[in-house]
Amino acid sequence: MSTVPAELLQILSRHQQTRLLSSLQLLSPADQAYLVTQLADVDFDLLRSTWQSARQDSTPTETADRAEQAEAPSRVVRQPASDADQRAWAAARAIGQQALSSGTVAVITVAGGQGTRLGFEHPKGMFPIGPVSQRTLFQIFAEQILARRRRHQADLPWCIMTSDATHEETIAFFRQQNFFGLSPDSIHFFQQGSLPAMDAATGQLLLAAPGQLALSPDGHGGLVTALAKAGLLTLLQAKGVQHLYYHQVDNPTAIVADPALLGFHIQQQSQATTCVVCKTSPTERMGVLVDLQGRTEIIEYSELTAEQAARRNDSGQWIFWAGNTAIHVFDRQFLESLCETGNQLPLHIARKQVPCVDEYGQPLPADPSGQPNAIKLERFIFDALPLAARTLIVEGNREREFNPVKNKSGSDSAETCRTALSRIAREWLQAAGHPVGPHEVFELSPLQALDAEQLSENLQRGVFSPEQLLRG
Ligand code: UTP
Repeated sequence: MSTVPAELLQILSRHQQTRLLSSLQLLSPADQAYLVTQLADVDFDLLRSTWQSARQDSTPTETADRAEQAEAPSRVVRQPASDADQRAWAAARAIGQQALSSGTVAVITVAGGQGTRLGFEHPKGMFPIGPVSQRTLFQIFAEQILARRRRHQADLPWCIMTSDATHEETIAFFRQQNFFGLSPDSIHFFQQGSLPAMDAATGQLLLAAPGQLALSPDGHGGLVTALAKAGLLTLLQAKGVQHLYYHQVDNPTAIVADPALLGFHIQQQSQATTCVVCKTSPTERMGVLVDLQGRTEIIEYSELTAEQAARRNDSGQWIFWAGNTAIHVFDRQFLESLCETGNQLPLHIARKQVPCVDEYGQPLPADPSGQPNAIKLERFIFDALPLAARTLIVEGNREREFNPVKNKSGSDSAETCRTALSRIAREWLQAAGHPVGPHEVFELSPLQALDAEQLSENLQRGVFSPEQLLRG
């Protein structure tokens, strides 16, 4: 039988968690050793303080204070509205293109989430989203990256964050798809950490099976430590990469390595730049970027009452307009500095139903009141924003850039996203003077065009013919 180190035993006793060891002798030696390793990784002090604060929740006054003190973001670039704005955007685009060609940009895709709302059985990146071809989210990003590399003759390394929940299937899928034509050594898969779920009532760690803690990915904010742990910050530094374009796996219309966003970030010497879109209404369920005591922060929609969400400042400007798209550009050294100072992003708490068993493998019954049984913990990448010395907010074009797949149906679903992909293709085709039928569904591969201008050029030059367009 594997022995439990005395120090670990002491920690478990101090935190009243020895129950986890009560069936140790029933496990195989390998499973015993595995449980001991899992427990040795847990920061019980941090979990206890987080569980205690979850029981208190933040007071209404604390939340109201944040909402009261918040101001609309001050360092912000809005969508172009005048000729002068157009020139400013063109200048930023040129700076971004230069950065891409000189090899100082890398892409980070976070793809470690469990996608529970979508209810898809595989990693979300494998979800078929092409409105005609059913090409997957991963394929669309791979094609965007290949097209960008060709256009800017750039290396553009691609870092993909996975988790225990998605790692093996993701790698197998990329292999099966021959890495979508990208060279395998230009893609860097790295795995985020996990955090244990706790019983919401007692703070006890939960078991997924005898000898196995119920673990879940540590949130997209796990990125910072995961990048460093995998040695990727060092590798990117050695490659001369300075700017990290970050996006999430569930928005296929994100403009991967967007030259304009990169350009503004570089021009304004920002450490952390966020692409936002104007919320459609004050009550839209979207986090908003604000200035709070001189720092850029996100206020979640759940923190605002309907009245607060509609508030305007003295000049009549809507304060909470800047909806978070979860598209960011980070300065590599800024992320390094977060690791060096040991600055872990804070833990957030979600009450969720987590299937679990007792020490002997018997499933634990759900709470009869229907309350979620567990507290799950996550870190959010946007908590890095207030830690940056200099930030920037850039407004993107909502219809073009923000069409995420979150839900099974309704808003932000596969259906709304496919409609958007087809609409974008239709608009580009119309702009290129190509006739489009009123009910036709269209799909463009990023390899055919990254934007309307390129589509027009490629059709004119005969790079591909209208017959090669995907329509349904
Ligand atoms: P969401 O917060 O939408 O979570 O993730 P999700 O896991 O995709 O879906 P739900 O909430 O379970 O329905 C936004 C992005 O962050 C990534 C996801 O893969 C997605 O790209 N993410 C989320 C991670 O990489 N790791 C995590 O631990 C959580």
